[in-house]
Amino acid sequence: MDRLKEKVAVVTGGSSGIGRCICETFSKEGAKVISYDLDKIPYTYERVEGYQGSVTNREEIKKFVEYVKDKYGRIDILVNNAGITKDALTNKMTEEMWDMVIDINLKGTFNMGQFIGPVMIDQGEGSIINISSVVGEYGNIGQANYAATKGGVISLSKTWAKEFSRKGGKVRSNAVAPGYTMTDMMKTVPDKVLDPIREKTMLKRLAEPQEIANGVLFLASDEASFITAHTLSINGGLRL
Ligand SMILES: NC(=O)c1ccc[n+]([C@@H]2O[C@H](COP(=O)([O-])OP(=O)(O)OC[C@H]3O[C@@H](n4cnc5c(N)ncnc54)[C@H](O)[C@@H]3O)[C@@H](O)[C@H]2O)c1
Repeated sequence: MDRLKEKVAVVTGGSSGIGRCICETFSKEGAKVISYDLDKIPYTYERVEGYQGSVTNREEIKKFVEYVKDKYGRIDILVNNAGITKDALTNKMTEEMWDMVIDINLKGTFNMGQFIGPVMIDQGEGSIINISSVVGEYGNIGQANYAATKGGVISLSKTWAKEFSRKGGKVRSNAVAPGYTMTDMMKTVPDKVLDPIREKTMLKRLAEPQEIANGVLFLASDEASFITAHTLSINGGLRL
């Protein structure tokens, strides 16, 4: 229960779903966790606090990073988890739908890493985990915007793995690509879509948030000290 003892972790989108579960899991492993989310955190876990802000608001992120550094002195772990969907076939997708998803899922991830990466480089260590998706690995009908962002964060993770380790420090950067996971995001997806996915998945079900958080915990911890630029697929065998 001490795999993240004394570590300071920032988790975006920590108020609900997978992000909430990551916050709880990190807290149980001894980390100090700050959730950066549009919404207040609707729970109380030991050593977890909420900070309200958007991953699209660069001025707010700068203030947030200063706040965390002043309070805790360091940032060991960054989980870029905040994400949204706005689905439509390409011929029906509005520019607004495209821009909104790119702005939050891809640029939002970049914004956080651009301001927190240097903190980790100065410390000489850190672990960044960007939450991608099975859809980012293989594409999906009706999700051109979402799939593009989730493919993008895989390349971003690899680029940061290269850039942030250049000075010889121990900064790692990886992606986690979950399969379909039972959270609020899935509530908009009808069973007629989810049932065939269950059927195509080797393990014949969707993921639980804890199963994604377990992978994120591993990559965040020192147990993964020689793993960087990797994409960990957690999809129950949906895709090979
Ligand atoms: N649920 C799935 O099946 C699934 C599968 C693969 C990948 N993912 C990815 O996992 C991550 C979490 O998904 P989830 O299912 O838990 O979603 P969710 O909707 O339950 O939670 C997303 C959280 O992000 C926050 N958020 C949204 N926009 C934000 C912004 N601009 N700034 C800060 N916070 C913001 C929301 O307030 C919310 O708390 C997302 O990146 C998603 O793309 C989810």
